Amino acid sequence: MKDASANADAKRAAGERAADLVKDGMAVGLGTGSTVAWTIKRLGERVREEGLEIHGVPTSYQAEELAIASGIVLTTLNQHPILDLAIDGADQVDADLFVIKGGGAAHTREKVVACSAKRFVIVADESKYVEKLRHPVPVEVLPFAARLVEQRAKELGGVPVLRLGKMKDGPVITDNGNFVMDVGFGTISDPAALARRLCGIPGLVEHGIFENLDELYLARKGEVEIISKER
Ligand code: A5P
Repeated sequence: MKDASANADAKRAAGERAADLVKDGMAVGLGTGSTVAWTIKRLGERVREEGLEIHGVPTSYQAEELAIASGIVLTTLNQHPILDLAIDGADQVDADLFVIKGGGAAHTREKVVACSAKRFVIVADESKYVEKLRHPVPVEVLPFAARLVEQRAKELGGVPVLRLGKMKDGPVITDNGNFVMDVGFGTISDPAALARRLCGIPGLVEHGIFENLDELYLARKGEVEIISKER
């Protein structure tokens, strides 16, 4: 699990607090990363201690393994195409609640799960919260289309970098068998417009800009603050 030690207490506080949102009978999207891992573990405790009955849809191999180890019953999106709730971590969240995800290369399934949910919640420590997004945007790419995507990302003003493995030579391969590029755009003044343009690149499977966040559970100054989107 990446970055497990940095801001560990804050990650744990935000992650565990969001587990309170889950009620008996819910189908819940289970996100990926070191913050939402605390949510999954806490849900496992609630299953054991309270007899909470839930079904989880994991967003990655990592989330699936942790959910199984925590004793959470799993299901699929095909069995539960409408989820009551999805909870996930983030790489960056801005003041308008636009989100960048994909630091763990899981954003494609994370987006499918988030968009299947009636309510989408992000858990994060304050290092993730910024006025304007500036984190490079992860994009999942068909290996067959890597050069084309690179070229088109440059035409949009981006600086694409193929993500390489740490304990493996060559590129990171996602849970879906694809490559990931991290595309730097500097400060992103209009995330919605950039998201639309990225969607227009053939061979780009999914980008890491999320526009449907409902609530941010943000751990800062020893408390968990809930920031909601006005709808
Ligand atoms: C996975 O691809 C990402 O979107 C993660 O959800 C994100 O990187 C989570 O970060 P933390 O590990 O800091 O929670």
